[in-house]
Amino acid sequence: MRFFSIYDLIISKTHDKNITINEMLSFFSARKISKATLISLQQTSFLPDKPAFKNAVIDFLGMNELEIELAMGHIPAEYRESYYENISHIAALLQKSTGDNVLKDLEPLFETDLGKLYKGDCIEIMKGLPNSCMDLIFADPPFNLGKTYDFGINDNMTMSKYINWTYEWLDQCIRILKPGGRIFIYNLPKWGTYIATYLGEQLTFWDWIAVDMKFNLPIQNRLYPAHYALVSFIKGVKAQTYHNQRMPLQTCRHCGGEIKDYGGYKAKMNPLGVNVSDVWSDIYPVRHKNSKNRKYNELSVKLLDRIISMSTNEGDIVFDPFGGSGTTFAVAQMLNRRWIGCELGDCDVIVKRLKNPARDKKQLDKVREESGCLFTQKVEELRKKNGFWICSDYEEN
Ligand SMILES: C[S@@+](CC[C@H](N)C(=O)[O-])C[C@H]1O[C@@H](n2cnc3c(N)ncnc32)[C@H](O)[C@@H]1O
Repeated sequence: MRFFSIYDLIISKTHDKNITINEMLSFFSARKISKATLISLQQTSFLPDKPAFKNAVIDFLGMNELEIELAMGHIPAEYRESYYENISHIAALLQKSTGDNVLKDLEPLFETDLGKLYKGDCIEIMKGLPNSCMDLIFADPPFNLGKTYDFGINDNMTMSKYINWTYEWLDQCIRILKPGGRIFIYNLPKWGTYIATYLGEQLTFWDWIAVDMKFNLPIQNRLYPAHYALVSFIKGVKAQTYHNQRMPLQTCRHCGGEIKDYGGYKAKMNPLGVNVSDVWSDIYPVRHKNSKNRKYNELSVKLLDRIISMSTNEGDIVFDPFGGSGTTFAVAQMLNRRWIGCELGDCDVIVKRLKNPARDKKQLDKVREESGCLFTQKVEELRKKNGFWICSDYEEN
């Protein structure tokens, strides 16, 4: 276990010492450290600066400063050289397991002509999959925000537990991804930083995409949170597939005028749309109950369409460890990709959705209707009415 907050280490030591949380708090309060001050250590992996506070933590843990830093996964600068010099000794001490994978027999809960859905814990299911078998992995895990999921799913872990769990399923994802294959992880930027750092140790960084987060609530003393992180890496140094994505020019909804000034470049603009950047502002949450398959956390067909179309070809295989309402599987199915997925909670919504694809097809048709052009028909009409240029103004005679 690696710790990501000093507070988590204190809690773990409390359990090791077989004492209660109240007894631990009394230890600190006897040293004039309040519960609130102690809890401030939840967000940091560094020892406090104030000597009295720092010494209290060191005394409670019964560890020296170097041991505490190592428990946090830091190797202090002055030890880095001797760490490297002693690497074989350290490796022997860690008795690293070979990581051999014992494939288990898996029984899917549901199958289509292209895909298989497994009900169960994604880590256990991934252990049953062979090395290097997926062209694309997309994962949208719980964000550890204390939401209520189906039975058996803890969305309120300590920071250390959540990150260790994340690393555990990421290890399996890395193993089953094909060389040249691509992985996308969707999460809050806070967790995205840990995910990107971890993936970067074994894979090649490709993109950090900011997906515009609509209608969020402000957080005290912080900038208004306005994006989700969609981090993307590839296995090896070259992506096996990349299909450029285009989208309509962003225009004002009232007058149809472009939001960004393209100056003298209008004539050179591709009538099929502008290149999609790494800021995605055109993805809307699935909020309305008529377009939703279940009551929470459902991503839009448009998001998955873009990801799958960009990084796979027909017949390729897509994996999603956190099925939810099954958006990834529904889109993969419509785009003629093979797919494999897991869900620990209720799978009925996914099965129902895959058996009745009409609503997803309608949504995908709408997405397609609104792409592949610089202006949709509706926007073009609005622009004409208000005297703005349209593509045909620049067509060569
Ligand atoms: C954020 S939701 C995914 C939503 C999905 N992307 C969609 O568009 O519908 C996360 C899902 O992961 C599932 N889950 C949580 N822990 C899991 C685990 N260990 N193995 C498999 N599924 C898990 C939850 O039940 C939840 O449905």
